[in-house]
Order: sequence, then C-alpha cells, then structure tokens
Amino acid sequence: MLVTFVYDVLIASGQLGLSRNEKGLYYAVDLGGTNFRVLRTQLGGLEGRVIKQEYEEVAIPPELMLGTSEQLFDFIAKELVSFVAREGEDFRLHEGQSREIGFTFSFPCKQTAVNSGTLLQWTKGFKVNDAIGQDVVAALQGSIERRGYKMRIAALVNDTVGTLAGGRYWNNDVMIAVILGTGTNACYVERAESISKWGGELPKSGQMVINMEWGNFWSSHLPRTYVDELLDNESLNPGEYGFEKMISGMYLGDCVRRVLVRMAQQAGIFGPHVPHKLLEAFTLQTPDMSKMHHDDSSDLKMVAEVLKTVYGIHNTTLGIRKIVLAVCDIVCQRGARLAAAGIVGILKKIGRDGSTANGFIRRNDVNGIHDELTVNSIGGSGKTVVAMDGGLYEHYSKFRNYMQQAVRELLGDAAKNVFIELSKDGSGIGAAILAASHAEYVPT
Ligand code: BGC
Repeated sequence: MLVTFVYDVLIASGQLGLSRNEKGLYYAVDLGGTNFRVLRTQLGGLEGRVIKQEYEEVAIPPELMLGTSEQLFDFIAKELVSFVAREGEDFRLHEGQSREIGFTFSFPCKQTAVNSGTLLQWTKGFKVNDAIGQDVVAALQGSIERRGYKMRIAALVNDTVGTLAGGRYWNNDVMIAVILGTGTNACYVERAESISKWGGELPKSGQMVINMEWGNFWSSHLPRTYVDELLDNESLNPGEYGFEKMISGMYLGDCVRRVLVRMAQQAGIFGPHVPHKLLEAFTLQTPDMSKMHHDDSSDLKMVAEVLKTVYGIHNTTLGIRKIVLAVCDIVCQRGARLAAAGIVGILKKIGRDGSTANGFIRRNDVNGIHDELTVNSIGGSGKTVVAMDGGLYEHYSKFRNYMQQAVRELLGDAAKNVFIELSKDGSGIGAAILAASHAEYVPT
C-alpha cells in the first residue's frame, strides 16, 4: 500500500474528476512490461480534451533488464530524445513552456513527492540491482540532461495510477484501476484520513490515490501448491510477489508447464521420457497457453501444434490433449478468480460492494452483526467503474470472462452498479495528464 501523492488533482469544480483544464503539449514515457513506450499529446482543456496524440513502442532489449541502472535510464533517455526530435508542427508548446513528462514506472516505489520516488524492488523479470534505493526520477532526469536536453519530469506514475487518471479524465465514476498484464496491480481512491502512512497535511480533496502493489499480497489463507513453491524458488524474486505469481501473464504459462512436468514424470503422459525442453523454466509463454485454451476444434489442433512447436512433442492422443486443455483451464480460472477477489476486496473497502444500505455498512463482529456508519463511501453517482488494462485482460478472453463471472458471483445484486471497463493504453495518456496537472507551466 503506497501513497502516490496524487490528490488535489482529484477535485474539479467540486466534483471528483481530474481538472480537465490542462492545455498544451505533454510527454509520457512508460517502462514496466515487455515494451517501452513514448507518447506525446496535445491537450486542449475542457473543450478540446485530447486534441492529438502519437506514440512509439519498442521492445526492451533483454540484457537491459539485468544490466546497470545507467544503461537502463540511458536507453529510456535515448528513445525519448529521438522521439522528441521527430515532433511535428501540429504539436505546440506554449511560449515559455518546457517539455514536461509523466514518467510511468511500473515497479514499487516509495514516493516522497509526486515527482520523486525510490525503487523498493524489481518485479516481472527485471533485476537491475544498483537501481534499488535510487530515486528513479533523478536517474532519468540525469540521463536526459547528459544528452543536452532540457525537460522536466513532472510526475512519477505507476501504470495503475496512470490508468486511473486516464479513465477519470472522461468519467468521474472511475474509482479503481487494475492492471492484468505481465504483472498485476491495482490502485484506488481512498479517503485521506484512513491512510495511516500519510504524515502530511490532509489534502484539500480529502482523498488520495493508493498504489496497492497487490501483486505482493500474501495470506496464509491462499492455498499454495507445489507449483507455486517451485515457481517461486526459480523466479528472480523468490519469496516476493506471491499473488502476482498466481495471476499474471508472466507466470500463468509456467504454472501450466509445471503441472505438465509432474504429469509427465508420474503418469508418462508424453511417453516414457519427459521431453527435455519441458523441464526448462518459463518456456511456456502465456499467449501460447491462451492459444491452447481457446482451441475449440474437435481434435484440439492448436493444442497439438503448440506442444509440437514449443516442446517438440509429437503424436499426442486426443485424450492427452484434453488433459492439457483442462490444465490450462484450471490455472486460468484460479488466476482470474483471485483477481476478482482482489477487486471485490477493494469495493468492500470503499463501501461499493453493496453491503451499504442507507449509509450503513453491515459488518460481522464477535457479537453478531452490527451496523456502522459508512465512512468510506465517497462521491459519485452510485456507479463504480473499474478501469482495466494489460495484455492478459485484453487478449485472454477466457481469463476475462472467468474474472467478470467471479466478480458477479461475489457481489450478487450489487454487481449491477459495478462496471468493469477496458481502458486500453489509458496509462500513457493518464501519465501525460498528470504531468500537465503537476506542470511548472500554468496556462493562462
Ligand atoms: C509491479 C507494479 C505494476 C504491475 C503491473 C507489478 O509487477 O510491481 O508496480 O503496477 O506489475 O504492471
């Protein structure tokens, strides 16, 4: 649970939206998953909103994920300045305005201001050891300046927070943002006085966005299997991010692989020997798992194809292919239902799970049920929108369906007021908007 310093921007003329009066040209850079992205947007204030935007995406060279901090931030700075150099005529800075950037950095950071924060740990296959404990804004700012450019990083933004800001720019009912991609996480709008970690003055809005880092959630109630233990031991961050390892795209394929290895060893499902490649960790990517899972052909052609191309396993019987499909289904369903439980947990925390009637929350305590004043339900039209992003959610439709079904199941009737909406790539634009609302330059 990390404070984000995103608060007063939540007020707009007495409502709970972003101010939406941001104008001018703003940039965003986004580091956090498999790809790195740069974006520019021309904001037109209340009337024009997003007038124009452009972005570019490049794959992150794998060696940079395990290199030094200087190499990583120099790479970001290089991509950013070459993108800036190609800025067209229809993007315009105001006179006296310098280029301001929203920096989406999707790893846990302890923020000390909206535009500074130190990296707590790496996740999702990154391991750039000397960056831990460093102020990532200062590191990127330094790399940009060494290239002779003058730009200001106005906001450090987790991808969940960017998605929330991007969603809220259009719709005040967005209270929660969830990423289901390579990694997973959620953020939500909390009442400032409930935040025990917050030592500062209470913000005017009375609210603050909390970056939950739910990937690192753990509870003794979560059933942990041999698959989870083995996967954790062989991951780059053992003992950390247990929830993420049960849910997100970086790990689901490997959960399936580990079950298949056990079946191959104990029941010989792929013949007398366990195929060599199957024993290699992280060789089954979640998109391949998804392809197998969505195979609706009568002879499970796609399952056969993936087993053949990824593992060199030929001549599987239909019976074995059905088993593989069932394993994909179980692993996907477990992840999706855990993500749903997380979402419903947040809805409960903010009093939007339907347990509130006439301003009261019904709670169970040791003496039975008692009513408590709803102190947590803030603002809005009664609708709650959960803004979703991430490749796993977007492209793995069975995962998405299982998740939505479990949310409905857990919420019952209250589900009619909860809207789970894809906010595709909202985080980039959200970061640019947060840069605009925390910019040094104030448009007249
Ligand atoms: C990171 C989060 C991020 C999430 C989704 C996790 O591994 O710790 O900060 O929001 O992935 O990208």
